Amino acid sequence: MKLGFLASHGGSNMQAIIDQCLSGAIAGKPVILICNNPNAIAVERARDAQLPVEILNGRTHADTDQLDRQMEKSLLEAGVDLVVLAGYMKKIGPTTLSTFSNRILNIHPSLLPKFGGQGMFGIRVHEAVVAAGEPQSGATVHLIDNGYDQGQIIRQAILKVDTSDTPATLQKRILGLEHILYPNTIAEIASGKIKLPVN
Ligand code: GRF
Repeated sequence: MKLGFLASHGGSNMQAIIDQCLSGAIAGKPVILICNNPNAIAVERARDAQLPVEILNGRTHADTDQLDRQMEKSLLEAGVDLVVLAGYMKKIGPTTLSTFSNRILNIHPSLLPKFGGQGMFGIRVHEAVVAAGEPQSGATVHLIDNGYDQGQIIRQAILKVDTSDTPATLQKRILGLEHILYPNTIAEIASGKIKLPVN
């Protein structure tokens, strides 16, 4: 299964998935990283892994439709079977969404549908969880549709929120959980154990 990544920042989830492809735990091959931010650590990680990188953003394509069509073309030309969003901070355009319908995964650092939606990203998610006094939180792998964090949930991992947790400690602990959940979920998709909806 050929994997195409979209990332904007650190790319630690992408790295965990690349590592599991290399170890053989995922029957998958990373084939491209598309990134909007040329200075992202994700770009360095991809170059270190000899993964082709393409920068697509408002500078390369002022027109959002053209950017969307270029993204679709690049993913298709790379032969991508599964699009893996790994900290990608932009919305996917309608052309790419339609071509890869039910084949675009995301990971979100909460137990969706709780603490998702527009503006709920990064530390804000964990601030909201702590402020609400939630007894547990976690991470969710889900399909992308045209809403924010609303697509079908594929897998979740749960952890207990400790009374000593701050938003920062929770963020760190959940990121560690993501690095297990995301590769494991992709391994199960690649092996056929998880069947994504048929279009
Ligand atoms: C993760 O917390 C993920 O849940 C969210 O963005 C963050 C990405 O981190 N979608 P990284 O770039 O993989 O390090």
